[in-house]
Amino acid sequence: MNTPFQSNLVNWRPEPQHIAIIMDGNGRWASRRGLPVPAGHRAGVEAVRAALKTCKEKGIKALTLFAFSSENWGRPETEVRALMALLCHYLRREVEQLQRDNVRLRFIGRRDRLSSRLQRLMGRSEELTALNTGATLTLAVDYGGQWDVVEAAKIFAGEVASGRTTLDEITPERFERALSLGDLPAPDLCIRTGGDARISNFMLWQMAYTEFYFCDVLWPDFDAAAVTLAIEDFQSRERRFGLRGGDDAFVQSLDIAGNA
Ligand code: IPE
Ligand code: IPE
Ligand code: MG
Repeated sequence: MNTPFQSNLVNWRPEPQHIAIIMDGNGRWASRRGLPVPAGHRAGVEAVRAALKTCKEKGIKALTLFAFSSENWGRPETEVRALMALLCHYLRREVEQLQRDNVRLRFIGRRDRLSSRLQRLMGRSEELTALNTGATLTLAVDYGGQWDVVEAAKIFAGEVASGRTTLDEITPERFERALSLGDLPAPDLCIRTGGDARISNFMLWQMAYTEFYFCDVLWPDFDAAAVTLAIEDFQSRERRFGLRGGDDAFVQSLDIAGNA
């Protein structure tokens, strides 16, 4: 990681490298307008575009969006169907733009419960954008943080059972690499819109030292200015990573964050 000139150190705060967003509030946005819930999800797509554009302009390399949780299957069937249709529509329409913008698109979460059409579209858009280097956009679809940890545990259980790994060789570092997005730095900042202050089974392990930013704005209203406010708030914080506070800890935290 680049370090700033020593004299600027106190006022210098790095931008997050990886932002994760729990995009909440679409349903309330719609019902406040007397619209059906899917209209809120459709309006939320514009906020996705705005967040991606702002992050790209600010040089943020990774954006991870929580689009559909493992638990969201329990919603009314018409809503689930509308969300899946919207995702298909988004992929068909936006992937070429992502390609032009040099953005790599990837997905985390279970695939086997999605329609084969959606699975095909997801696979194709990942292949098409795989070599892009400008930024990584990850969509979490049928994703749960608990599922993610269990999947990693299964990998190690298999390796131990077959004798390829011993119990002592399972370390937090290796475990982390086996999780979804194990090849990216953990999120520095997690934004949740919609006024609730909870993680709702998002990236449980990966958020051990993530900074949280909760705001009341409903997701469809979360525009470029709101993204900028969240980033500025992040930059005003001191990340201590369990160390003593003050500038010494700040300097050490740069090392920790840089080596993550
Ligand atoms: C978030 O918006 C989007 C998804 C969970 C797919 P909600 O649909 O949860 O919106 P609220 O919380 O009901 O307002
Ligand atoms: C979290 O929002 C999941 C997504 C944004 C995809 P929810 O609306 O599902 O979360 P809860 O039910 O309020 O915890
Ligand atoms: Mg919600």
